[in-house]
Amino acid sequence: MSDIQAIQTRLMGDIAAAADLDAIEALRVSALGKAGTITALLKTLGGMTPDERQTKGPEIHALRETVTAALGARKAALDAAALDVKLAAEAIDMSLPADAAPRGSVHPVSQVMDELAEIFADMGFAVATGPEIEDDWRNFTALNIPETHPARAMHDTFYFPAQMNDAEGRAILLRTHTSPVQIRTMMSLEPPIRIIAPGRVYRSDSDATHTPMFHQVEGLVIDRGIHMGHLKWTLETFLKAYFERDDIVLRLRPSYFPFTEPSAEVDVGYKQEKGRRIVGGNGDEEGHAWMELLGSGMVNRRVIANCGLDPDEWQGFAFGVGVDRLAMLKYGMDDLRAFFDGDLRWLSHYGFGALSVPTLSGGVSA
Ligand code: DAH
Repeated sequence: MSDIQAIQTRLMGDIAAAADLDAIEALRVSALGKAGTITALLKTLGGMTPDERQTKGPEIHALRETVTAALGARKAALDAAALDVKLAAEAIDMSLPADAAPRGSVHPVSQVMDELAEIFADMGFAVATGPEIEDDWRNFTALNIPETHPARAMHDTFYFPAQMNDAEGRAILLRTHTSPVQIRTMMSLEPPIRIIAPGRVYRSDSDATHTPMFHQVEGLVIDRGIHMGHLKWTLETFLKAYFERDDIVLRLRPSYFPFTEPSAEVDVGYKQEKGRRIVGGNGDEEGHAWMELLGSGMVNRRVIANCGLDPDEWQGFAFGVGVDRLAMLKYGMDDLRAFFDGDLRWLSHYGFGALSVPTLSGGVSA
């Protein structure tokens, strides 16, 4: 057996016996590394006679190729075996319960706004929006609350500095109610109009029942021949669907809002049960009382005219109600401030599942 064959036999035996990747690497270095056996043989080619080189050259190159291939094959086999071992060790036990992923909840205010959109959509109302940063013309003047009117003092308004007045010199403020959306809608849509406008509003006010930011929903209907009967039916239908009871009784009390004429404050009958107000029943009956719930009225002719519509042709009604208040009454929270604390315990207790979307057919809160 030639030297070359002897080297090949020995190396092939060693490769076959190599137990792990380290052993393979050691063999590769010992044969093909800088000081390796095969490298040394390749170096001898230079000192050979041409004849010798012609016979030895191909043998040495063949040896190098055979050994290289054997190293590669053995390495691949060991890699595969190592992967099998790893996979066996890391096998996932599918029978174990999965770790609970943290799950968010829908804030009651968002839930109630969705319920309102659902209820009013069924009566043909669209949802309108307006900016929270408003100008004093839309927030007050166009709503028939002129500069000197005492009603302006009723709202503790957050104004931006006078340098921020708009191009027309109108003061910029955080809207104090959703009523400016009435103005925006009448100025941008052709009547007939049926919209609700839920959103954030701001007043400089803070205690257990008042937060500087809170939520209202505005309602507006503009059409021909609209009267108080439509208003009362709409509010009754809305409140029955919202509180999910048929025994909702309303009491309309004459009131005053600059943007409506006549104006009515709407009370609902309720009774006190285990420290909670349960809406329903006639407030004049035994064990019941009335609670003021919302403001409403026939849209003032001046407001309709301010928006460029002819008040002899178009009439309508409007209403405004606190969304947070509606949520508290239906879902039993008693401190408004907790709505905006961002306490996860409160949110997981009072929050709603992201996939339980309100529908009328299921009862909006089901
Ligand atoms: N904008 C009134 C407020 O914030 C609420 C209101 C009352 C809205 C009567 C109306 C309405 O649209 O007709 O106090």
